Amino acid sequence: MKQPNQRRAFLGKLAAASAIPLVPSFLKPDANLDWIPKYKSSFAPSSALALVEDETFWYQIKNMYSSSPGVLNLNNGGVSPQPIIVQEAFERYNKLCNEAPSYYMWRILDQGREPLRQRLADFAGTSAEELAVVRNASEALETAIFGLRLNRGDKVVVCKLDYPNMMNAWKQREHRDGIVLKWVDLDLPRMTNDQIVAAFAEQITSDVKIVHITHLINWNGHILPCKRIADLAHAVGAQTVVDGAHSFAHIQYSIPDLGADYFGTSLHKWLCAPFGSGLLYVKKEHISMLYPHLASGEPESPDIRKFESLGTRSFAIEQAIGQALDFQYSIGNQLKQDRLQYLKSYWTNAVKDHPKIHINTDTHADRSCALCIVNMDGRKPTELGEALHNQFKIHTTAIEYENVQGVRITPHVYTVKADLDRLTTALLKLANT
Ligand SMILES: Cc1ncc(COP(=O)(O)O)c(C=O)c1O
Repeated sequence: MKQPNQRRAFLGKLAAASAIPLVPSFLKPDANLDWIPKYKSSFAPSSALALVEDETFWYQIKNMYSSSPGVLNLNNGGVSPQPIIVQEAFERYNKLCNEAPSYYMWRILDQGREPLRQRLADFAGTSAEELAVVRNASEALETAIFGLRLNRGDKVVVCKLDYPNMMNAWKQREHRDGIVLKWVDLDLPRMTNDQIVAAFAEQITSDVKIVHITHLINWNGHILPCKRIADLAHAVGAQTVVDGAHSFAHIQYSIPDLGADYFGTSLHKWLCAPFGSGLLYVKKEHISMLYPHLASGEPESPDIRKFESLGTRSFAIEQAIGQALDFQYSIGNQLKQDRLQYLKSYWTNAVKDHPKIHINTDTHADRSCALCIVNMDGRKPTELGEALHNQFKIHTTAIEYENVQGVRITPHVYTVKADLDRLTTALLKLANT
């Protein structure tokens, strides 16, 4: 994942495209980010750990967000806030569009799509010709689910811990087209990776056509051994649909490394891009055979852009993804992931030995990152979630789903240790009453 310079190229293109200077300074790289690499370079490479723990640095990151001073938001897993530079970019682009919508949207901002596609491809480790910019993970994944050519009786492997929108899409195909769903049942966090792979292997028989894999389970934060499962699928000639809604820009990987034939994610989660932004990846050789969800003139075209026939949509949202990438690159993927691991360990270590508190996520760095769930004896997850909110103004989400129970705690890069001290103090107080 490298730092590309398409934004400058884009500026150049825009200047060339419009004879009169209709595009002012609105696309300049944001100078508000300049301090981050400077601050980082003041640390020797050997002191990377110190930067992970350096609250001065992370307080300044926090100041780049407009987080509520009242409510402590620890449900960043639901949807992430945008750094102020992303919010401002969105507002600038949106205002510009409102000056002459069809001109600024379709003639000016539209020219930013290809450079953006390339930047996203560099980040995701794919070719730009394999990425479509869409509105969220649901749209991306349902494009794959409904676009696949499946016949009555074709078998698809899904998991009970997949995301509801995706399970509903597959169930709708089962109802409408007569495909057959084969369900994997996981008992997390108790199962080892080998047991997880074995549970999938049991369902991935030689007649299976598609295996749906949620890379990072939203219910409890467990990271599935996606590539190992994908290898099983490919060994029987099946294809994989990978749900990366919770892993993308959270943990480091390139999409092809997952063994994904089709991949969808939202960008308004861990990348902190504007609400309503997402990404669809389709492996080059599958594009022509996948029907677009919203029809295009050439449904069997090998051009990934056929998945972007979405009708009128916000170009401001789309273009401000660029500032979210700038922000992500400024912090750096590795540092971000290390900090999120550090924050998870910080709060879970502070409470895990209390006899009434149970961390219900496997906290090993290979099997979870920022997202983690906690239980307390004597309180249902909803009761614990309400107590945290009503008594301590801490916003979380309660999970009571299948065999997963707990309050989900999700810090982000703008979460500082003092925030988590507030959480652990609250948890210990509640456990002791
Ligand atoms: C695993 C997973 N997949 C897909 C989605 C859908 O994301 P969106 O609502 O942005 O489409 C979510 C949302 O939380 C999710 O957790």
